[in-house]
Amino acid sequence: MHCTMSMPHSAESARERGRAVLFDNYARFPLRPVRGEGTYVYDEAGRKYLDFTSGIGVLSLGHVPDAVAARLKRQLATLWHTSNVFESPLQEAVAARLVRASFADRVLFVNSGTEANEAAIKLVRRYARDVRGIEGGTIVAFERSFHGRTMGALSATGQPALHDGFGPMLPGFRFLPYNDTASLQAIDAGTIAVILELVQGEGGVTPADESWVQALVARARAHQALIVVDEVQTGMGRTGTLFAYQQYGFEPDVMTLAKGLGSGFPIGALLAKEAVARVFTPGTHGSTFGGGALAMAAAEAVLTIIDDPAFLAHVRQKGEALLGGLRSLASGHPDVGVRGRGLLLGLSFPEGARRYVDLLREEGVLVLTAGTNVMRILPPLTVSDEEIAAFLDALDRVLQKRAAEKARPGER
Ligand SMILES: Cc1ncc(COP(=O)(O)O)c(C=O)c1O
Repeated sequence: MHCTMSMPHSAESARERGRAVLFDNYARFPLRPVRGEGTYVYDEAGRKYLDFTSGIGVLSLGHVPDAVAARLKRQLATLWHTSNVFESPLQEAVAARLVRASFADRVLFVNSGTEANEAAIKLVRRYARDVRGIEGGTIVAFERSFHGRTMGALSATGQPALHDGFGPMLPGFRFLPYNDTASLQAIDAGTIAVILELVQGEGGVTPADESWVQALVARARAHQALIVVDEVQTGMGRTGTLFAYQQYGFEPDVMTLAKGLGSGFPIGALLAKEAVARVFTPGTHGSTFGGGALAMAAAEAVLTIIDDPAFLAHVRQKGEALLGGLRSLASGHPDVGVRGRGLLLGLSFPEGARRYVDLLREEGVLVLTAGTNVMRILPPLTVSDEEIAAFLDALDRVLQKRAAEKARPGER
């Protein structure tokens, strides 16, 4: 790990050529990874970075994990795609594992988180019409949530800045403040479903309070509103249990998954209890690529590793080690907050987090932002004690630099 204060000339011109042909919709970090191995990525010049982004919470097993790579190679030589016009032994096997490990009775495979949430929105609307006789009911969602970028999932996303210029949004969503018990009174007989993240990831790494979740579940049940948990980011072991809802003492009706389920291979899934899943009769929903053989092979290999009590105990232990280290560093910086669950952790900075994300990158360490104030820390679930120690050392240097800058403002 080492300093990269400015890009070499050739990398700069390659970057400009790339930017001329790609849409400019991402404010990308000035880094060009071309190879990954475990918790490390290497850029075009061969520089090594400790990667605590996991491709935004996707690489549950790190870069190019051997078991998944081997399973994918085997599948590459066997069968890639047939579409859902045929039966799929592979889909059935992966679905059976997910059903065994969760509250759900049935699984529908798609290709991404947003697509899983689109399917969830359609499912709860269809259920409301078919089972409760309600058309045009309301889905309650939460401020600062993130459910995806396609029109339905975007309409459920409680971040007005992301809606800007794309209206009209889908009707039928109502936003309540997150972790605010009093406002749950708004869930009433016209509410067909509630959709929530149990840790808001993109919105700022904010865990749901247990008492608030209990009140939400009670209120939703009292009014027959379905509970949809969006576990696209929190699922697949990220928070220390296979699914985050398992730490909150309730069972949802519907769950969406994506990110970590393929550890880098694109995949999404919608899971539901039988009584809800049943309303998706033949022809109501579909996806050409959903549940393709390669994605299923990746998910099968990922589940074999993650759906194991010993692996999940490892995640909890590393999560506690990292959280403990963050708390101890932050104790010397009283305005820096620490939050999160498992290996979905955040540090909040009142003045904004971006500068410290950039300083860490100069130290050879990659992290993300969430919202504007939070540094989001998402190592692979396979992270080692040594990698956690290296991360904390680099963070310590960055926090010391921040303290020095605060002591001498204007001198940076
Ligand atoms: C909670 C949550 N839901 C949905 C999504 C959208 O997933 P995708 O980018 O795969 O469409 C994300 C992505 O960050 C997410 O964090």
